[in-house]
Amino acid sequence: MSARLGHPRLHLRRTDSTNERARSLAAAGAPHGALVTAAEQTAGRGRQGRTWTAPPGRALLLSLVLRVDAPALVPLQAGVAVAEAVGDAARIKWPNDVHVDGRKVAGILVEGRPQEGWAVLGIGLNVAVAPDDFPPELRATAGTLGRAPADLEPTLHALLRALERWLAADQATVIAAWRERDALAGRPVSWSDGSGKAVGIDDAGRLLVGTSSGTVALDAGEVHLRRP
Ligand code: BTN
Repeated sequence: MSARLGHPRLHLRRTDSTNERARSLAAAGAPHGALVTAAEQTAGRGRQGRTWTAPPGRALLLSLVLRVDAPALVPLQAGVAVAEAVGDAARIKWPNDVHVDGRKVAGILVEGRPQEGWAVLGIGLNVAVAPDDFPPELRATAGTLGRAPADLEPTLHALLRALERWLAADQATVIAAWRERDALAGRPVSWSDGSGKAVGIDDAGRLLVGTSSGTVALDAGEVHLRRP
């Protein structure tokens, strides 16, 4: 499916979470491509139960209602699309954090009700955040595109066009593009149950890690880069 994304669009000056708003719209029957954007979120959600914060008017905060045949592929398709919109320097840290120069500039949260036929794709992209605006606990790891607030809308449109292309791409094409941007391949990583060296993703998008007892395939959770 390569249906146009971004219509209808609801833009909110302030909301709790664009994912929450988009979920309500999806449950009420909103079509594929419906978009919720906000200048500010008061309860932005991240993966693994984390929060997502951004200074008002300086980041893209968006959620799309998707009605797709293969929702399991969406997190990878979205990672590739966001990386493409960010530029050649963008790398993807499994599963789909987008980094530039080792700093996270974008996060992706896919929530869904496959049995009801919809998913919500939430993206936070630090387009025009000043480094000093990050809270102290994020200053060492968060990054920004360093663009101007006036670049928010053009960046949104570039991102929607990239998403239209990548949501239409098949699994093999998405996996190949993802691998070209892999931020972890060959690097030492740790996760809640172990550590090893990341060796890439398999054809289902699981992270492969070589450990002293063989190769482990991770299909969920969080991995951390270890200092070599
Ligand atoms: C992560 O890296 O943990 C995912 C962060 C996703 C944040 C975005 S901001 C827009 C949308 N609304 C939310 O509440 N979360 C996502």
